Amino acid sequence: MGNDTHVLDSPPEGAAADWTIPQNWAHYTPEEHATWDLLFERQAKLLPGRTSNAWLRGLDVLKLSKPGIPDFEELSERLMGVTGWKVVAVPGLVPDDVFFDHMANRRFVAGNFIRRRDQLDYLQEPDVFHDVFGHVPMLADPVFADYLAAYGRGGQRALGLDALKYLGRLYWYTVEFGLIAEPEGLRIYGSGIVSSAAESRFALDDPSPNRIGFDLKRVMRTEYRIDDFQQNYFVIPSFDELLRVTVETDFAPLYEAIARQPDIRIAAIEPNDVVITHGTQDYARAKGGTAILA
Ligand code: PHE
Ligand code: FE
Repeated sequence: MGNDTHVLDSPPEGAAADWTIPQNWAHYTPEEHATWDLLFERQAKLLPGRTSNAWLRGLDVLKLSKPGIPDFEELSERLMGVTGWKVVAVPGLVPDDVFFDHMANRRFVAGNFIRRRDQLDYLQEPDVFHDVFGHVPMLADPVFADYLAAYGRGGQRALGLDALKYLGRLYWYTVEFGLIAEPEGLRIYGSGIVSSAAESRFALDDPSPNRIGFDLKRVMRTEYRIDDFQQNYFVIPSFDELLRVTVETDFAPLYEAIARQPDIRIAAIEPNDVVITHGTQDYARAKGGTAILA
């Protein structure tokens, strides 16, 4: 999903200097293609009326409903034609500078393996379903495509400013777990939600999590959890607005200001929050408080 700690120092055997590997599409087994189809059908039933129009359009434009694991070459050709992005395979998680370099140059790095049948709902590393079904449709949206490329450049800059912790939270609360206010109501665009059957219900319907209007500094100060459903979702008014505020803001002074302030506890509501839903946090409590990552 972007940031993690269990990463090798140099490309593993068989990988290129930029860490890419061949997708080896011809080597997928019928069983693996069937796993994709199973996950796809499950989500396809759930997502109309839940995902953003941009994501739905992307799915359509890229012809992702074709059965089987998509061939990255074919997918990249379509994607290139709309926003100039391509999809490249990597062997799991890659170092931050490699990740940002690909992103800044409009190459989306995706895992080429698919989860096993006994892991349909829980994964430790992003697989091809999360990466392609979750992320790639958004890359067909011109504004979001620009946002992600700008994020890649922002990542390179944050590395030098030692501010990855803050920038990573922006990725988490937008690219992975973002919600958008559309005229018909709240919709999902975050890939971590889109690729999860349970969270695509929870994120919109459950009374437990907070749903708060997006504010750049607020988001970058807020803790998050990687082990379960989110306790907060941040709601953007539009992709244009997300792009505008992130591109027009110089993050360097913001990082400095944030570093002098305490982090915001995961479920806390702040005085200036635009609260859309003040969550009950029942789900977190039901789990005996383990949800609170202090
Ligand atoms: N404007 C940010 C900076 O000054 C870069 C950025 C753009 C980061 C878009 C994220 C998304 O570092
Ligand atoms: Fe991801």
